[in-house]
Amino acid sequence: MYFSTAHLAAASAALAQAAITIPVQVGKGGALTFVPNDIKANVGDSIEFSFFPKNHSVTQSSFADPCHPLAGGFFSTFIPTNSSESSETFTIVVNDTKPIWIYCAQTVKSHCQSGMVASINAPATGNTLAAFTLKASNATDSTSPPNTVPLGGILAVKGKGTGVTTSIATTVTTTVTRDGSTYATTYATAYGTTYTTDATQQVSTSGVSGSSPTKSSGAGSTSVSTTAQPGAATALTANGAMVGAMMLGALAML
Ligand SMILES: *[C@@H]1O[C@H](CO)[C@@H](O)[C@H](O)[C@H]1NC(C)=O
Ligand SMILES: *[C@@H]1O[C@H](CO)[C@@H](O)[C@H](O)[C@H]1NC(C)=O
Ligand SMILES: *[C@@H]1O[C@H](CO)[C@@H](O)[C@H](O)[C@H]1NC(C)=O
Ligand SMILES: *[C@@H]1O[C@H](CO)[C@@H](O)[C@H](O)[C@H]1NC(C)=O
Repeated sequence: MYFSTAHLAAASAALAQAAITIPVQVGKGGALTFVPNDIKANVGDSIEFSFFPKNHSVTQSSFADPCHPLAGGFFSTFIPTNSSESSETFTIVVNDTKPIWIYCAQTVKSHCQSGMVASINAPATGNTLAAFTLKASNATDSTSPPNTVPLGGILAVKGKGTGVTTSIATTVTTTVTRDGSTYATTYATAYGTTYTTDATQQVSTSGVSGSSPTKSSGAGSTSVSTTAQPGAATALTANGAMVGAMMLGALAML
């Protein structure tokens, strides 16, 4: 009885363990390193990468093929910064206990082959971080995803949340009534909007309605009303970590 109670308490403690954010410095002090590089994380934890000069990336590969992007893997894009820490951070969420392999895809000075690699939950034997580093040093070249938007994580401005850009395709209908006759014209337009929001905040984009000005013209009376019908991107609502993913998905379609 005593032991089963103790086990129960231990199990509850494990379940109650809150997800944490683990900071990782990319290229600090000009070194071609991730610090820490042998990262241990629990499912649900976030890894927040901060970037130092000059121009690094956080890119996911497989163990078998270092220095080349894993299909469907994450990529921060290149984050250039000249003299100090970049204001941008890249955050990924650890979804399972499988090992995750990471490299910097900068080809100038062959960062990956030079040892700028890291792992999350690498095994202690066999496919270790040391084995991965050795394999990477043997890679004949290093490549990065062609994408110019981050994949599989959230690129955010420190302290300001996530900067996201979206555009809304709409049609605008202008109705003109003049001396009893009505003319309607419909045309397409697009609005580009940039939001800065915390990842935990809800982002909602709704349709735009114009005002209905009335003006007099010539002898008769002319009234003009403009309404914009929101298109497919309307009511783009998301919260939590999904904000970045959804916005980036929307961007990828542009
Ligand atoms: C950063 O590195 C990438 C990849 O080599 C390159 O395409 C990009 O132009 C670099 N950016 C700057 C500002 O040097
Ligand atoms: C870095 O310095 C170069 C040359 O001084 C400048 O053109 C560039 O805009 C700077 N890049 C950043 C990200 O500050
Ligand atoms: C590195 O390359 C050499 C020569 O191709 C090969 O013999 C060796 O097994 C490779 N090492 C690793 C860790 O892949
Ligand atoms: C975790 O899952 C989310 C949502 O599917 C995905 O965007 C993210 O890339 C995953 N994280 C990793 C490290 O694969």
